[in-house]
Amino acid sequence: MTDPTSSTKPRVFVTRRIPQRGLDPILAATDCDLWAEPMPPDRQSLLERARGCEGLLTMLSDRVDAEFFDAAGPQLKVVSNFAVGVNNIDLAEAARRGIAVGHTPEVLTDATADIAVALLLAAARHLKSASDEVRQGRWKTWEPTGWLGCDLVGRTVGIIGMGRIGAAVARRLHGGWGMEVLFSSRSEKVVPGVPTARHFPLDEVLRRADFVSVHTDLTDETRGLIGHRALALMKPSAILINTSRGPVVDQDALHQALSTGKLFAAGLDVTDPEPLPGGHPLLALENCIILPHIGSATREARDAMAAISAENLLAGVQGRPLRHAV
Ligand code: GLV
Ligand code: GLV
Repeated sequence: MTDPTSSTKPRVFVTRRIPQRGLDPILAATDCDLWAEPMPPDRQSLLERARGCEGLLTMLSDRVDAEFFDAAGPQLKVVSNFAVGVNNIDLAEAARRGIAVGHTPEVLTDATADIAVALLLAAARHLKSASDEVRQGRWKTWEPTGWLGCDLVGRTVGIIGMGRIGAAVARRLHGGWGMEVLFSSRSEKVVPGVPTARHFPLDEVLRRADFVSVHTDLTDETRGLIGHRALALMKPSAILINTSRGPVVDQDALHQALSTGKLFAAGLDVTDPEPLPGGHPLLALENCIILPHIGSATREARDAMAAISAENLLAGVQGRPLRHAV
């Protein structure tokens, strides 16, 4: 039976199944088309299903650009991204067309900061290869000089991009391990919870830090920011962590540094592309741990992201200001 009221409800397309906490209010208030497959829609399906919609709830894996807006049509009012990062969306094009863009800041800050710290610990202590050795039955005996990593206490961390997530990582490392915090960012600022954190030019942070954790947005300025030049400034004993966006790090340069002893280890939650193709050289390195972009993957964070992205979507189609507009 068709819902007799459906024609009066705004039409929206949700490009993946999100937690029920977000789906329920959307299903109640809209004529909702939900992409329920485990894999994201291919480009053609994405463009076709967007046609005629007033609102779209998108993932960081959906490219939202002029072609997409053209395919959707002039009635499109809002794109609500199920992510804090919006590098998948052409914001200038959205603004030009008067399309509101929403995102989900704050609620994933702690989850993502935890993953950055987990990667740092894992990289510092060879957790990935040590655990693999046990699993594969190759571990023979306790070794007095085996698996030697490095202590975290009293070290210096360099945070590249001091937004909410960068600050949450700084608080964890300063409070938990007494680390000195240096950071580079667009502007000097007082870091909440770490009043001793000091702002420096990027090169200075790279030179001085024992651990470098990347938390910038992906923009034209930050694409490839951590490349040959930046990696050459870092200490050979340093560890690089990236939980922001893959393209901020030049992966060829990173591979070279890791495989020639110019960098101790790296921990990546993000790569370019995602996933890396099988046989990619970074996948073969013992000193590079790579996760499948799980920074925000806690029940709490994803439920909250679902609720906020639903709120943004509904506000947009109903012509109200978004709770979290970009
Ligand atoms: C995840 O990477 C996000 O931007 O929310
Ligand atoms: C994201 O929420 C950030 O500002 O770091």
